[in-house]
Amino acid sequence: MLRAAARWVRDAERVAGRLLRLERSDYAGALHPAMWRRGFLSNRRYAYPGIEDRSLPYISDLAFHTRARALNTPAAQVLVQHKHVFADALAARGLAACAPEVYATIGPGGLRVRSPGHGDRLRAQDLVVVKPTSGYGGGGVRLVTPAEAEATVADPRCDLIVQERVLQHPELRAVNPGSLNTLRVLAVRLPGHGPLLAAAVQRWGRVGTGPVDNLSAGGLCSAVDLDTGRLGPAVGRPRDRRRVEHDTHPDSGARIAGVLVPQWPQVRDLAFRLMAAFPELDHVGWDIAVTDRGPLVIEGNGSMPGVNVFQFHGPFLTDPRLLEYYVGKGMLRRPESPVTPPG
Ligand SMILES: Nc1ncnc2c1ncn2[C@@H]1O[C@H](COP(=O)(O)OP(=O)(O)O)[C@@H](O)[C@H]1O
Ligand SMILES: [Mg+2]
Repeated sequence: MLRAAARWVRDAERVAGRLLRLERSDYAGALHPAMWRRGFLSNRRYAYPGIEDRSLPYISDLAFHTRARALNTPAAQVLVQHKHVFADALAARGLAACAPEVYATIGPGGLRVRSPGHGDRLRAQDLVVVKPTSGYGGGGVRLVTPAEAEATVADPRCDLIVQERVLQHPELRAVNPGSLNTLRVLAVRLPGHGPLLAAAVQRWGRVGTGPVDNLSAGGLCSAVDLDTGRLGPAVGRPRDRRRVEHDTHPDSGARIAGVLVPQWPQVRDLAFRLMAAFPELDHVGWDIAVTDRGPLVIEGNGSMPGVNVFQFHGPFLTDPRLLEYYVGKGMLRRPESPVTPPG
């Protein structure tokens, strides 16, 4: 009993600490205690359209940070948590061709190629990607030459992988050539129904984000219409108490709003194939890149697959089965009347 209470206090402290850090790092120019009382960070006042309307089914930051980790079992999370393990799991389940190749890992002792063949293929590349095996938010992702990868030594707390550099579809490259612009597709396995696609966004890097497109690195994202693949305007994290919508990319001027995601039916198909290949996982944010050789999966986010990128475009829980799923997981209160999203 006492032990359970101590665990509860420890968990509450951890969640409160995380929310405080986010409140500080995502500060958009004003504190909103009224948002905190509802379990949201202050910046959601600007980021989530129509958030003042309490009947809209937005998942709060408090609900997310207390409950999201339990959406997949710990044993299932292991499959996607470390990027080199995920690469092996993909190969074991027949999907190696749907992902960039991992050539090597880098530890404190330097580079370790996976096999002589992997070493040969690594040395044949112009550039490769080096990134933390279990990073997040695009932190530590670098484009380097094979020689630079071979000379890299990792910090003992943070092993790295050396991965094939993905070259994106020309229509996506035209929007922001400096980053790989990926989709985040949220797939949810509903009890008694099977997997469905809950929401998707296309992310865009900016001149200042380097090779990554993550929102936490300063990127933008557009909602993707799940049926057609049509893009909405791009938004980023709110700054200076404002949510700005971009119909064109602010650096390149390339058109975004109204454009179709290339190969959208194949992207949907890959998300369903991944859910079929990983029956252990129930709730995953898949990062998918559209390339000349079809869509490739970059990573699976299974421990805390963030919902905020989807909520930046309005509540995404328009399917009553999905709403019921999150209500059942304790992440949402059942709305009193049917949901009509804004816009
Ligand atoms: N193999 C790759 N080739 C080119 N760009 C990549 C590759 N892997 C990752 N990136 C870029 O880095 C971003 C972050 O990589 P990801 O593996 O998703 O790590 P994180 O867990 O930090 O999000 C991606 O969204 C993409 O923009
Ligand atoms: Mg990612």
